[in-house]
Amino acid sequence: MLNNTQEELLKRINKKFESIDQQTDVHLEGLIWAKPITYWDYIMPDALLSLQVQRTTLPDEMVFIMYHQINELLFKMILWEINQVSDHEKLEASFFIEKLMRVSRYFDMLSSSFDIMGDGMQHEQFMKFRNTLTPASGFQSAQYRLIEFSSTELINLIDNRFRTTIDRNTPYEHAFEHLYWQAAGKDYKTGKKSTLLVLFEERYKKLFLEKMEKYNTTNLWTRFKQLPKEVKEDAELIKAMRHYDYTVNISWVMAHYNAAGKYLGAGEATGGSDWRTYMHPKYQRRIFFPELWSEEELKNWGHNV
Ligand code: HEM
Repeated sequence: MLNNTQEELLKRINKKFESIDQQTDVHLEGLIWAKPITYWDYIMPDALLSLQVQRTTLPDEMVFIMYHQINELLFKMILWEINQVSDHEKLEASFFIEKLMRVSRYFDMLSSSFDIMGDGMQHEQFMKFRNTLTPASGFQSAQYRLIEFSSTELINLIDNRFRTTIDRNTPYEHAFEHLYWQAAGKDYKTGKKSTLLVLFEERYKKLFLEKMEKYNTTNLWTRFKQLPKEVKEDAELIKAMRHYDYTVNISWVMAHYNAAGKYLGAGEATGGSDWRTYMHPKYQRRIFFPELWSEEELKNWGHNV
């Protein structure tokens, strides 16, 4: 005998399956043979933990691989939240704020954990295994680029030297060639691209052009500007936006820059960029929400770090 709750549930299940032209009986029968769910089937630690493959015999290479993978997982969590804001048809302030705070917390974690790289590997080992990684670089993280495209307007990602030559009518392809990060892989006198950049573009350029277009009207900054005036002027929200901007574009950048300095000293990077100039925020000037900073703050961006 079914109790009232079970009868009610069956009615709802029936309704659901009818609406998609499925037979409830068949689905219920299937449940009899279904395996009980387990942690390992659901979270898939076995698959996840099989993805750490060293190229050398040096144990600290494992720290390097795993911390990069942790970063990629968090990048995915960040994009998961930003995409919900981007795709929302009737965006409300509370939804925007909730997602922004999540994204910001994830990036705080990335920024505050960078010592795992900076302090966590023997220099001697690093100098050996890095040779097997040339010409790869974290520069080639596609998710990192997607976070940039989805966080701000394209103009804020254009190389500072070319911003006045680019506006809303510029074709995406042209804007792409002038993104700030092209500087890390392009000889601007000859226009020749490094292997690092050529391989990156072969793999991801098509995706990037698609996403540049998608996020052109749906990035976090544009969506913030569409919120009601009183929300945009809310001091707490502005503080949270500035915090996210600062974490991504100063705190994380400096944690990364200092770790790179510790291992590379005055040496060359695996990706081959002129990294000391390229990566420093005072030269790079990547700022997601420039209108939320005063003239003075913009002028001094990355100078006191
Ligand atoms: C000791 C560890 C690390 C060193 C020495 C290092 C070094 C560098 C250098 C020199 C560059 C400039 C491009 C090049 O010529 O290669 C770069 C770029 C980059 N790296 Fe790392 N990195 C380290 C760890 C990481 C980690 C853990 C991540 C996380 C995914 C990461 C992500 C990136 C990204 C996203 C860029 C591009 C930054 C931009 O375009 O502004 N790096 N890295």
